[in-house]
Amino acid sequence: MNIKERKNILVTCGPGLKDYLAAEIEALGFKIVSTHIGSVVTRRSFIDCMKLNYCLRTAYSVLYLLREFRCGSTEALYKQISMVPWEKIISPKEQLCVLSRVDTYTINNSMYPNMKVKDAIVDRIQKKIGDRPNSGKDRDGVVVNLFWKKDKAWIYLNTSGQKISDRNYRKMPHKAPLRESLAAGIIMATGYDGSQDIVLPMCGSGTLAIEAALIAMNKPAGGLRSNFGFKHVKVFDDQIWQQMRNDIRKAARKGRLEKRIIATDIDARAIEAAKQNAKTAGVDHLIEFNVCDFADTDVPEGNGIVVINPEYGLRLGELGQLEKDYKRIGDFYKNKCAGYTGYLFCGNKQLSVKIGLKASRRMVFFNGKIECRLLKYELYQGKKATQ
Ligand SMILES: C[S@@+](CC[C@H](N)C(=O)[O-])C[C@H]1O[C@@H](n2cnc3c(N)ncnc32)[C@H](O)[C@@H]1O
Repeated sequence: MNIKERKNILVTCGPGLKDYLAAEIEALGFKIVSTHIGSVVTRRSFIDCMKLNYCLRTAYSVLYLLREFRCGSTEALYKQISMVPWEKIISPKEQLCVLSRVDTYTINNSMYPNMKVKDAIVDRIQKKIGDRPNSGKDRDGVVVNLFWKKDKAWIYLNTSGQKISDRNYRKMPHKAPLRESLAAGIIMATGYDGSQDIVLPMCGSGTLAIEAALIAMNKPAGGLRSNFGFKHVKVFDDQIWQQMRNDIRKAARKGRLEKRIIATDIDARAIEAAKQNAKTAGVDHLIEFNVCDFADTDVPEGNGIVVINPEYGLRLGELGQLEKDYKRIGDFYKNKCAGYTGYLFCGNKQLSVKIGLKASRRMVFFNGKIECRLLKYELYQGKKATQ
């Protein structure tokens, strides 16, 4: 495998995040080939996959295309997979994990094709070098993804291994935490770049605040990860990786921010967890944490950003009390946040209308399987726009 050869790279993400992911990929200097619900395709080398893994905030996995082919049966699948020079990619000492997504006329279960792919890979390695890797479900070694749709199939090297949306800073999750990639997407949707104050009441375990701080400092999202799928393939070059990592780290902002990041929660345990998580992420010195009711949050004068992700009843809290809280959020926005741009991240329309403000924009995201909206409110000074 030539590590400089340009191939299609499929970068997967949560539904609702593809536009933010595409913007991130473009900002790294890569061209977008296509975008789909839950993925973006670019065309670069295996070396570039390392950069994508290290930097991307809204992605799940970075998949480097090894082969695409017509495929009408599991026999054809085995034959085609056997044509990839796996002995040049995977050492018998490595652990192999195969992930498959299958949608064909004849097979409605991915288990059998998954086994066929695994067999084709280990059989070829055994034949070529007389030894074979072990395989299992663990994604800490070499990971290979099969997509088989109708009569077409694609086999990718999963250069991420474990999803890169797991940043490794959330040692204390607290209640209903947002996935880090979703939190990053929400912060990106607000346009925040560190040049304005950002206020995050109801911060829970601090995911939005930590992602905001990482964005403001231009710190790579993968900075805390030591393991990636790309490190386990034979062609991995540690020198290139170290050099790339150092260059990216050097480009991060140093010191403190001029503007403030304020994160509060009524629950002292949430703030304790948020502080610990921020410390692990190396951004605790940038965030002012406080235990208080959201309405008592300190809002600096000016025209910053305020984002609230309240409970929305499906997983936590009771509807009646929540309706009162949403009305109070509307009052907080009108009375304490004039001049700001306000955002509400919510998965329940019945509750979000209780805020009593007219949203200027509605952006769709998914929190797990729950369809959510990020609602934007222009909180003009002296004006009280009601719904
Ligand atoms: C959905 S969770 C936020 C999760 C957060 N985005 C994260 O990623 O961890 C909502 C948070 O609102 C807090 N909360 C509930 N009522 C509150 C109130 N009146 N004032 C401040 N915080 C409150 C809860 O303690 C909880 O941590």
